[in-house]
Amino acid sequence: MKALKNQGRTGGRHEQEAQGSRKRCAIITFGCQMNEYDSTTMASLLAGEYDLTEDPADAHLIIVNTCSIREKAEHKLYSLVGRFRRLKERRPGLRIAVCGCVAQQEKERLFQRMPHIDMVFGPQGLYRLPQMLARLEAGQERVMAAELDEGFSIPAVPRSPLGLEPARAYVTIMQGCDNFCTYCIVPYVRGREVSRPAGDILDEIGQLVDMGIKDVTLLGQNVNSYGRKGGAGTDFAGLLSMIDRQYPGIRLRFTTSHPRDLSVEVMECFERLDTLCEHLHLPVQAGSDRVLKRMNRHYSRREYLEKVELLRKIRPDIVLTTDLIVGFPGEEEEDFRQTLTLLDRVRFAQAFAFKYSPRPGTAAARFEDQLPEDVKGRRLSALLAMQEAIGLECYRALEGTVQELLVERVHPHQEGMVQARTRGNHVVNLQGGPELVGRIVHAEIYQACNHSLKGRLCAEYPDGNHSGIGDDPLARGSSNEDHTDVCTCDNT
Ligand code: SAH
Ligand code: SF4
Ligand code: F3S
Repeated sequence: MKALKNQGRTGGRHEQEAQGSRKRCAIITFGCQMNEYDSTTMASLLAGEYDLTEDPADAHLIIVNTCSIREKAEHKLYSLVGRFRRLKERRPGLRIAVCGCVAQQEKERLFQRMPHIDMVFGPQGLYRLPQMLARLEAGQERVMAAELDEGFSIPAVPRSPLGLEPARAYVTIMQGCDNFCTYCIVPYVRGREVSRPAGDILDEIGQLVDMGIKDVTLLGQNVNSYGRKGGAGTDFAGLLSMIDRQYPGIRLRFTTSHPRDLSVEVMECFERLDTLCEHLHLPVQAGSDRVLKRMNRHYSRREYLEKVELLRKIRPDIVLTTDLIVGFPGEEEEDFRQTLTLLDRVRFAQAFAFKYSPRPGTAAARFEDQLPEDVKGRRLSALLAMQEAIGLECYRALEGTVQELLVERVHPHQEGMVQARTRGNHVVNLQGGPELVGRIVHAEIYQACNHSLKGRLCAEYPDGNHSGIGDDPLARGSSNEDHTDVCTCDNT
């Protein structure tokens, strides 16, 4: 769970002039990067009237952007929004919105369960936020926008600096998913796959670059199928090339890649495009063909391993990370063992592992051979122990190397320290102050920890800055955001 922060940025001159009359909005986000992106889109839509606050008790409007990928994530929402009832009793003018994937799933039922909510809207509905608020102001008691439109296209929302981190940002390139993996709720709550036109994406990256953003992650549930349905103007490899040509100074990343659709053209981009960072998140989910088939993943263990091998041939230093589900219905000890042997073989730098959680309406929730919680728990612990050792080994291999880092934030807990990221996506803690935030520096890695590295700035790169970034006023902001180092968990 994250509260969107002001990060020392404001909504712009117009908003600063009207500061006295501005209202405050708390945006709390659960779930994946898509939701984080959607929350910043909402901040942009509200920037004319609202500032952000991290304290719901101080807000005129509270927006909870929800996730329903696993049951635990859903439960967290109910306990949080339940607590806002008291706030509403004290301040009847307070508006409370629940949006995102649980809102899309539950619709009307949310109003019944929590009558103090004013607005319910899904991932497609959020673009109508200003109009929905206007309807509440005009006296309408409740507003809902939770229909899924087959012909939906993603509107272009001019990006406000409000809520952005100092150095890196997400850009959604597509919405929805057509894959229907049998465990997954996403196609039901995010609708059919739709790609944004390449021109809109390039414009948005341009706006971010003008604000001082140096690291851009393209988002989609399955970015490799970008443009497949037409209307986007290019395919995914083409989009990467266009961005690389137009914005040669940035670091470019993307997530998520479906292994089935990862083409040789996209793999070759890791070699061909300087902007594209040498990190790929390639969720494998399971190591056994029997389980992969029941998951409806459309690739085999062998095909996955062949793609990994080819990737490493094309880009030997590529850093691979993955997602895994343990305790899928009918997963036997032998299937699980194959997941462990796959981990051993590929040696991912990080693996995000989850206990299978049955989701309403999905095919796997109806499978009869569900596994007991204790089996899932035992397998998760075994996997975690194995991955800890592999991850540490990958991190140790970087000891003694010099890495190019983008400094992202002041360290949330350690005074006099900042947090930075390698091109390979490792988090590095190093000594320094807020003046480094937003800058590209070089550091020698002197110690590997479980999920991060320790580094010291290199003297031979005096200002540590080969792109003139230090002059950018917006790059000076800092953030206290809690860095998620933990990579293996059973909830979101
Ligand atoms: N589009 C991405 C994944 C999105 S969901 C992809 O195709 O890989 C993020 C991760 O949550 C998934 O990779 C999967 O590992 C996990 N996940 C999804 N549904 C789940 C469920 N029902 N139970 C447990 N984990 C789940
Ligand atoms: Fe879910 Fe599969 Fe789509 Fe990923 S590809 S969002 S796991 S249905
Ligand atoms: Fe993301 Fe959770 Fe929705 S993982 S797409 S916010 S269900």
